[in-house]
Amino acid sequence: MQRTLVLIKPDGVHRRLVGSVLQRFEQKGLRLVGMKLVQADRALAEKHYAVHKGKPFYESLVSFITAGPTVAVVLEGREAVAVVRSLMGPTDGAKAPPGTIRGDFGCSIQNNLVHGSDSPETAAAEIALWFRPEELIAWQPVDHAWVIGD
Ligand code: RTP
Ligand code: MG
Repeated sequence: MQRTLVLIKPDGVHRRLVGSVLQRFEQKGLRLVGMKLVQADRALAEKHYAVHKGKPFYESLVSFITAGPTVAVVLEGREAVAVVRSLMGPTDGAKAPPGTIRGDFGCSIQNNLVHGSDSPETAAAEIALWFRPEELIAWQPVDHAWVIGD
C-alpha cells in the first residue's frame, strides 16, 4: 500500500467539481485516509511549489493556489502515486485525453483542477506539509480483498 497527496485546487472547488473528482479516485479503489478544506496562505503555497520557484509561471501559480479553498486529500492504495497521476492526466487540460480528470473537466494549463504527488518520496513530504499525523486515519475497507485481489 502506498499513500499520496491529492489537492483539488481552487478552480475545482469554485466550479463545484469536488464530488466528481473524488468519485474518480474512489471508484478506482483508492481509500480516503485524510481530507479537509484548506485556505492555503502564501507560505504554504511557496513550500508546496518550491520546486517551481524561479519559473515564469511561479507567481501566477502561487496566486492561483491561494485564490480560494483547496480540498486536501490523502489517498492510499496499491501503486497510489502512479494510479493518481494516470487518473489525473497530463498537466495541460487541452492535451489531456478524454477519460482523465484534466481531460474531461478542463482546458487550461494552470487551472487544471488537481494535484497529485509525483513520487513516493514527494508524497511523504507533501503529506507532512498539508496534514498533521493525527489527521490521518489508517483503516481497511471491507471490500479490500476484492479490490486488490490477494
Ligand atoms: P501538479 O504538480 O499540480 O500535480 O501538476 P503537474 O505535476 O502535472 O505539473 P507541474 O509541472 O508540477 O506544475 C505544477 C502546476 O503548475 C501549473 N503550471 N503552469 N503556465 C504554465 O506553463 C504552467 N505549467 C505548470 C499547473 O497548475 C501545474 O499543475
Ligand atoms: Mg507536479
